[in-house]
Amino acid sequence: MFDRLQWKSDRVLLDDLVFRLEHTRPPPGQPDDWRGGEHFRFHKVAELVEQYRRFFARVPEFAAERIVELGIFDGGSTAFWFELFRPQKLVACDLADKKDSPYFERFVESRGAGERITTHWRTDQADGARLRSILDSDLGGPIDLVVDDASHLYQPTRSAFEALFPRVRAGGFYVIEDWAWHHWPDFAAPDHPWSRQLPLTRLVRELIEAAGTSYDLVASVTVYSGFTVVERGPLRVDATASLDLEQHIFRRPECE
Ligand SMILES: C[S@@+](CC[C@H](N)C(=O)[O-])C[C@H]1O[C@@H](n2cnc3c(N)ncnc32)[C@H](O)[C@@H]1O
Repeated sequence: MFDRLQWKSDRVLLDDLVFRLEHTRPPPGQPDDWRGGEHFRFHKVAELVEQYRRFFARVPEFAAERIVELGIFDGGSTAFWFELFRPQKLVACDLADKKDSPYFERFVESRGAGERITTHWRTDQADGARLRSILDSDLGGPIDLVVDDASHLYQPTRSAFEALFPRVRAGGFYVIEDWAWHHWPDFAAPDHPWSRQLPLTRLVRELIEAAGTSYDLVASVTVYSGFTVVERGPLRVDATASLDLEQHIFRRPECE
């Protein structure tokens, strides 16, 4: 699928689908001379997609039949993951009080995927009980792939991980996108809304600590600048509750 993507200056095309690149959109109040017709608004840049291509090329046998996406935004990434893996089920959640766009609805209809793609708006990734209840009704089995592109904040991202990682099958992957914002100078400006937020790097560090302590739970952690991928090990844990990541980390107190 990556080979079918046609990158242009302000959009990426995939067969009949148009993904407008959000980062090329003029700022509010500036004229917008978009003439690309109906489209998804897409929050991914070419370099990030290239990193995904490189990661999945390393695991050619990996198949994702059941995908969970956190952070729908305009549905562009939901369509992207569906086209990449053609899963049996893709469950997508977002906190926003929105609904599926007409373009997204037509996409789902055109693929005959009404039974395979379900979206859940007004759903907070920090609400583990709600995520579990959605998966109980929609997913029909263990998760192969989670892509978290939602809040990017430490606490809700960790809550979602603790709720969903128990349900990822051994050998499945949990992706945390844009973990590196704490290292982007623009985000450190005093007037940036995240200037005083806990870095998501803290969660990545904890995941590495868990891989060193509980390698049967966290089999590996792969870090790209655009995302971190956590591979699930075979340890059986209670999938009806959230895990406590801290319980899977050993640290020598004197080294803290
Ligand atoms: C960066 S956008 C997602 C972009 C999309 N995945 C793409 O690639 O085009 C982040 C989305 O996460 C949602 N979001 C923010 N905080 C959230 C939370 N606590 N739980 C669930 N979704 C959240 C926002 O409403 C927004 O739609």
